[in-house]
Amino acid sequence: MDKHLTIVQHPLVQHKLSLMRDKHTPTAVFRQLLREISQLLAYEVTHQLEMTTRVIETPLQEMEAPVLAGRKLALISILRAGNGLLDGMLELIPSARIGFVGLYRDEDTLQPVQYYFKVPDQLAQRLTIVVDPMLATGNSSAAAVNMLKQAGAKDIRFLCLLAAPEGVARMKEAHPDVPVVTAALDERLNELGYILPGLGDAGDRMFGTK
Ligand code: URA
Repeated sequence: MDKHLTIVQHPLVQHKLSLMRDKHTPTAVFRQLLREISQLLAYEVTHQLEMTTRVIETPLQEMEAPVLAGRKLALISILRAGNGLLDGMLELIPSARIGFVGLYRDEDTLQPVQYYFKVPDQLAQRLTIVVDPMLATGNSSAAAVNMLKQAGAKDIRFLCLLAAPEGVARMKEAHPDVPVVTAALDERLNELGYILPGLGDAGDRMFGTK
């Protein structure tokens, strides 16, 4: 991917996102919409995957058929909200390898601290797609990408549902080589770090914890 920021303008994505933003949308519907939208976003974030060909036989004749090249790609979920995007993507890319990054914010330093990190091997040879629905300040996303680079990942993409300008700028500054794909670029962050107009706390809305 060449551009740093891609906003997926597809009408189905935009319609589903509006339903998700609505505070009256119940948890079960929110979750289903997230699953559907994640598949449409997965389509976009993978549209330039490398291809090769393999000889197969159709019922009528042999042909050189296009297939994906290289190692299975790696999907990395930033806990916990990333898991909501991950589920739908896995339905589309069932052979993907999966990793998890857990971060919390230190209340004194306000910096992200790692509490969990488990990722597939041979990241250097895999397209690595990091998923987190909300790109807010960008601090945890940038930190997660740092950790993945240290673990060997070279070709990284970041997939989210909503991005704030602040988060996009932070990612561009820290990781100009990592394209960001999102369904919308919202207005700004509020004083608590929530995206406006946003959709609230993505984790709470998908897991029904509030
Ligand atoms: N995380 C969320 O879940 N929502 C926001 O608006 C910002 C960060």
